[in-house]
Amino acid sequence: MTFTRRRFLQGAAGVVGGYVVAGAGLRATPLGGMPMTMPQLAAPKVPLVNPVTLARFVDALPIPPVARPLEHRAHAAYPGRLLPFYRMEMRAFSARLHRDLPPTPQWGYGGSSPGPTLEAMRNQPLLVEWVNALPQRHFLPIDHNIHGAERGKPEVRTVAHVHGARAPAASDGYPEDWFAPGHSAVYHYPNGQDAATLWYHDHAMGITRLNIYAGLIGAYLVRDPEEQALGLPAGECDLPLILCDRLIAKDGQLYYPLSDDPAAPWVSECNGNAILCNGKLYPFMQVEPRRYRLRLVNAANARFYDLSLSSGQPFQQIASDQGLLAAPLPRQRVELYPAERADVVVDFAGMDGKTVQLRQQSEAILEFRVRDRGRRDTSAWPASLRAVPRIDPASAVRDRVLTLGEQDDAGGNPMMMMLGGKHWSAPVTESPVQDSVEIWSLVNLTGDVHPVHLHLVRFQVIERRPFDLFAWNASKTLKYTGPAQPPPPHEAGWKDTVRADPGMVTRIIARFEGEPGRYVWHCHLLEHEDNEMMRPYQLLPASQNAKAQEPA
Ligand code: C2O
Ligand code: CU
Ligand code: CU
Repeated sequence: MTFTRRRFLQGAAGVVGGYVVAGAGLRATPLGGMPMTMPQLAAPKVPLVNPVTLARFVDALPIPPVARPLEHRAHAAYPGRLLPFYRMEMRAFSARLHRDLPPTPQWGYGGSSPGPTLEAMRNQPLLVEWVNALPQRHFLPIDHNIHGAERGKPEVRTVAHVHGARAPAASDGYPEDWFAPGHSAVYHYPNGQDAATLWYHDHAMGITRLNIYAGLIGAYLVRDPEEQALGLPAGECDLPLILCDRLIAKDGQLYYPLSDDPAAPWVSECNGNAILCNGKLYPFMQVEPRRYRLRLVNAANARFYDLSLSSGQPFQQIASDQGLLAAPLPRQRVELYPAERADVVVDFAGMDGKTVQLRQQSEAILEFRVRDRGRRDTSAWPASLRAVPRIDPASAVRDRVLTLGEQDDAGGNPMMMMLGGKHWSAPVTESPVQDSVEIWSLVNLTGDVHPVHLHLVRFQVIERRPFDLFAWNASKTLKYTGPAQPPPPHEAGWKDTVRADPGMVTRIIARFEGEPGRYVWHCHLLEHEDNEMMRPYQLLPASQNAKAQEPA
């Protein structure tokens, strides 16, 4: 490799150009772990907006429109049927993130960010034509040293993925299935899964972090009759609330941080200082004095949210990533790691004429204004939601021990983020057999939390357990240093993303239902995902002998 990247054994937190870079460039080296170097953040060359100076709650919260099918079409996978056909065009557009800011150039599905909400009923398939109508040039800093983003590839490449969908491989948005402006792909979604808040976003190899930061996100809601029969808030009282954070230059442009090496701009995490709620900064929402279902989606590149209500009332969490919990769960605070979802019900009854703010830590990011003498609830509040039968660990045919690592690469990349010690391009090592149950033990060797996501399947968290990193590094043996911790109640439902804490083995269990083919699993910190912290996996047909297919 010819490029060089300046190395620092230690970074410093501080204020650069008016924004806090705490955490960037700083990484604890786990005791006994491999020494790591981190690229440093360069000071932005453009002045950034300091969000503290922005007026609060002057813009209405945008509710993304529900997508409407253009027509009905036949599809080879569903003989004799006509399916709703949607067209989602990715386009450049400009929109104000706040009343007092100049319009911000962005990319969005249907020309908005978030894009229109796709709604599906369980077992009712639909077709989406994802159209790349973006410009030929990217407006965010591509790092050409990153695998898949080499010079010579088209700068602008997109491939849409519905996060949490049980979609066939050819419609799953495999990162290498990207296409350039002027091209499109028709994907089909069988929706053979329980009601859940899913979300769609770009997944192009090596530039996912930039495409999502540019605005390529939207909600995809699956509903089912059992959930509808529960009498949960519906219609205009049921809305997605998509959170992400950005850095914004004073001229309105999105600013994506750079390392201080112009030849290698990748940074290990992009944290904004201003939180967008459905694409607006500090919006307000007029509500009736009744219950609302908020489908919280963390669409940030790297930010962990810690949400609460200024009124001190708890959220009633009703669903996690893959749908309903067994029963409503009152929570004072809802923490969300990147890509995680929580559906919560907030009850504004009896608060006529008052305001309630949604807080991220101590900062109010959204204000609810409760209408005086408005409409009340007529519905009952369910005591239980849906049974969540535990998958029996004894039914697992396999327990895969998979490491999450960060290490210096002799080739010059300062920090390879790796899964199972392997690069993206190494041959497939995980090939579960269709409908079989597997346990994946995620061994986090780093000093960071990594939110790990598997495509295609829903899973359950079995436990987290501390282990001895020295013993691992010395002999690759797992020596536990404490008791296993069962998942907290909000993680006891169906999940598709799980936080793997440092120093812990996080064990999950899944039944690998779905169509055979090539899928991926990865860390959902987008900067990590783009820099090797993603691996393919192959779902083998049930009829085949797994052993014969697996590499030795
Ligand atoms: Cu949210 Cu691989 O995706
Ligand atoms: Cu996904
Ligand atoms: Cu990670």
